[in-house]
Amino acid sequence: MTPPFADAPRLASSTAGFANIDQVWEACREDLQALEERIRCAIDSNAPIINHAASYLFCSGGKRIRPLLLILSARLCNEQERQDRLLLLSSAVEYIHTAALLHDDVLDDASMRRGRDTARLLWGNKASILVGDYLYAYALDQVIALGNTAIQAALAETCRSMVEGEVLQLSHRRNVNISAGDYVKIIDHKTACLISTTCMLGALLDSAAPAKKAALAQFGRHLGIAFQLSDDALDYSASQHKLGKALGQDLYEGKITLPMLHLLSACTREERTVVEQIIERGEAPAHDLDTILGLMERYQSVAYTLEESRRYIALAIEELRVFPPSPYRDALEIVADYVVSRDH
Ligand code: FPP
Ligand code: MG
Repeated sequence: MTPPFADAPRLASSTAGFANIDQVWEACREDLQALEERIRCAIDSNAPIINHAASYLFCSGGKRIRPLLLILSARLCNEQERQDRLLLLSSAVEYIHTAALLHDDVLDDASMRRGRDTARLLWGNKASILVGDYLYAYALDQVIALGNTAIQAALAETCRSMVEGEVLQLSHRRNVNISAGDYVKIIDHKTACLISTTCMLGALLDSAAPAKKAALAQFGRHLGIAFQLSDDALDYSASQHKLGKALGQDLYEGKITLPMLHLLSACTREERTVVEQIIERGEAPAHDLDTILGLMERYQSVAYTLEESRRYIALAIEELRVFPPSPYRDALEIVADYVVSRDH
């Protein structure tokens, strides 16, 4: 198949039109392959465990959504953007994301990610946290090398925000009275902030006009919220095999996400008492999870969450109107649609 971006400096300047996400991946293959080589080989620490864990993590089939968003956003602002700068920044974003997941799996006691044992199961919680710290510091090195203070400030602020999201989430653990507003605030901080900044970096690289910078930041923010909403829906609905993570992990962890918030508000008083007891117990054996899944099916809580996710995607796509039609804009729309249509 001829990639839609084939004969461009990067992408064709007319509206290429993509049928699906595979064509977008294909069009960015060269950049993404270069990224893959970079992140798989770059970590060369004096502490072998860091190299082993990094190699394990970077060869575990991550979708590289953030690098893809960065590449497309940057080229939307400047088609001629240099590949070396894109690689440096997109690898930094991937290191930050991976560091966050290492820490997150410790916080969540998670045993499976991307269909494989989590690093904490293989090397222990302490090593997982330290490898996360190392990757985070490595990301900072990369960003400093770029010498762009606006980008440094944006990423520093983002990391702070991610930690705040996790701490807020911790403070609302098993809180069945958490408001929908507080829930959105948590997912905005913990997930959407990095995706928003990733998209905005494309504009910062090019010192693009403030309106374009703001539009990409908002595009990423809505997309990030939609991404986490889908993630939270999949936690109650996916096939575990496809998801590559344990189902019902949020229930077990006492994370009150949107499907649960919807259920709590839609069910009867008696059912609510049962649900609250299950959340309170925090053990989530199979029959408790089945009870919750049955109720969610009855009240369509997962469907409601996915509708909300699609609503945020529509808001995200709306933001791109600031940019004239282009293959990069089309590609960003396809990535946005993919985020809500994925089943893992
Ligand atoms: C996944 O949420 C977690 C995140 C998106 C963010 C985690 C952030 C931290 C632990 C703060 C540390 C930050 C840095 C920069 C080192 P989830 O548990 O709902 O998703 P999951 O199902 O994929 O685990
Ligand atoms: Mg988690």
